Amino acid sequence: MTINPLSEKGRPIEQQVSAWPKVNVTPYNKREIHPYTRSRIILMNGIEVEAVIFKHQAARHTSDLDIKRVIALSRHIEQQQQKMINWLVPHDETSLEVTIGYEQVAVDLTAYLARTEPDPNVKAALDFALLEDFDHLYRYANLMEMTEGRQAEANVRELTEIMPGRPTALEHRHPMDLIRMPYDNKTANILTKLHVLTIISGEQQTMNLYMNIGNRAESPLARGLYLEIGQVEEQHVSHYESLADPTTSWFEMLLLHEYNECYMYYSCMETETDPRFKDMWRRHLEDEITHLHIAAELMKKHEKRDPADILPSQFPELTVFQSNRDYVRQILGTQIDLTSHKTDFMPVQELPEDALYPSFQKTVNREGAFSQQVIEEHIGRFGADYRHEIEGPHPDRRLRTREKVAMPV
Ligand SMILES: [Fe+2]
Ligand SMILES: [Fe+2]
Ligand SMILES: [Fe+2]
Ligand SMILES: [Fe+2]
Repeated sequence: MTINPLSEKGRPIEQQVSAWPKVNVTPYNKREIHPYTRSRIILMNGIEVEAVIFKHQAARHTSDLDIKRVIALSRHIEQQQQKMINWLVPHDETSLEVTIGYEQVAVDLTAYLARTEPDPNVKAALDFALLEDFDHLYRYANLMEMTEGRQAEANVRELTEIMPGRPTALEHRHPMDLIRMPYDNKTANILTKLHVLTIISGEQQTMNLYMNIGNRAESPLARGLYLEIGQVEEQHVSHYESLADPTTSWFEMLLLHEYNECYMYYSCMETETDPRFKDMWRRHLEDEITHLHIAAELMKKHEKRDPADILPSQFPELTVFQSNRDYVRQILGTQIDLTSHKTDFMPVQELPEDALYPSFQKTVNREGAFSQQVIEEHIGRFGADYRHEIEGPHPDRRLRTREKVAMPV
């Protein structure tokens, strides 16, 4: 049994505004933090960033000053929550360590969502991008060993493996091939709506991170790797956002955002092992219950619709962080060769004559790719690439070689 946040009592919104020292939280210890506690922090920061940006966009699309004011009030709290979460990251966690954390989230969140997703079209989209973020983890881990002399397995531990996925250089595709068919808001399962909103938030935050920290690296190779993967994160946001039904009203989107925040904080709270963070997730959940009630009132008033007709009477299956090594291997063994053509996924070898993928590849990769060069340089220096293979050799035999840059083609 879970809860129905529509009938729970939250904290009154006026009591949600905190004094500065309470917002300025004490960072975690990077040597002690559990990788999945770090993952929850990264993901919930992304969820809060989406809450803030969505509410700014919503406010720009109404001339009603009362609505703008109500949105501004809860948006202030979203911003405050974002600080209380993102300021947990300590100063001595390097940009690359943060990056490894983000890609671990991308792997284990995407894999879990794919495993539990009821809509086959959405599941296919998750599996597809899973192999791309999995490859990013490998490229950044190789860069980290070269530039910082540390191995990423200290960060991800035994929970997530590190080896090639769909090679990043092959992920670059024409922007017109990124758009998927959306679910139908009227018939879609609530879990599908929550999954799509959660993965958009996570990928968007990864895109934002690389847009901002990619130029903090020193070497041209590291800066190049960030910009190249940054362009793939732009692709991932385009890919995932196109899955959401664009005919959903602003009030319903607001309601869904608040409901998802309730659902995700509840999911975090239920699975958190560290009491300090468990308590933090619980407090944020209380705030979100009130935000949901505010969004529900706006919908009743302006659309004369009852949110209880849209939302379920309790949370669906929770979204949690757990190891997905076997699932990732299964997808690695079967889907490396896929690319996309318009809304469809297909093996590169089966693309039609008029496909945009080959010429786009030629354009961006004609002078090589930083994502390949980083592995070449690692091999040059260490004699082999860096991997963290726990369950045995790579499921795709073409990607088993470690002494030269492995490519499936
Ligand atoms: Fe929030
Ligand atoms: Fe990624
Ligand atoms: Fe991504
Ligand atoms: Fe909220």
